[in-house]
Amino acid sequence: STGLPDVRERTLIAVKPDGVQRRLVGQIIQRFEQRGFKLVGLKMLQASQDVLSEHYCGLRTKPFYNSLLRYMTSGPVVVMVWEGHNVVQTSRTMVGHTNPAEAMAGTVRGDFSMHVSRNVVHASDSVEGAQKEIQLWFQAKDLVDWDCWVQTSTS
Ligand code: PPS
Repeated sequence: STGLPDVRERTLIAVKPDGVQRRLVGQIIQRFEQRGFKLVGLKMLQASQDVLSEHYCGLRTKPFYNSLLRYMTSGPVVVMVWEGHNVVQTSRTMVGHTNPAEAMAGTVRGDFSMHVSRNVVHASDSVEGAQKEIQLWFQAKDLVDWDCWVQTSTS
């Protein structure tokens, strides 16, 4: 380790169909930009069953699995890759608790959602998980390596 903060850490953030339908995409992007993270990939798409079953492969035995997949295919999603120091953990904090009843005000879910089955946004839960999810949703050529000219606390 160089002892310097890892500014190249990446996470996958997805605005779920309810977030797109409710016109929350801009506000969600704004929160990550304002925090200082760097957007390196972005696309809107109708998620396929194949990608979703891989994305949620750890949840196959859950009682809510089928309704989760129906929800996630009910409309387009906006999938993004954000980069920066400790972005995985910080994004989880910004997104808030999975169950909106426990999500603090000021978090995305605490501000915009009231039920776990319509919780607006997904954020990778670990650095390893993020790497897998980024590979699943994006091709390497669609992630942009650009320099931050603006001075941030970690650059
Ligand atoms: S678990 O049971 O602890 O594995 O689940 P959790 O980590 O809390 O959540 C994993 C993802 O499942 C979604 N979820 C649900 N979707 C629909 N209905 C219900 N009841 C439900 N419970 C959990 C939850 O939002 C997580 O999705 P992502 O996209 O990862 O945020």
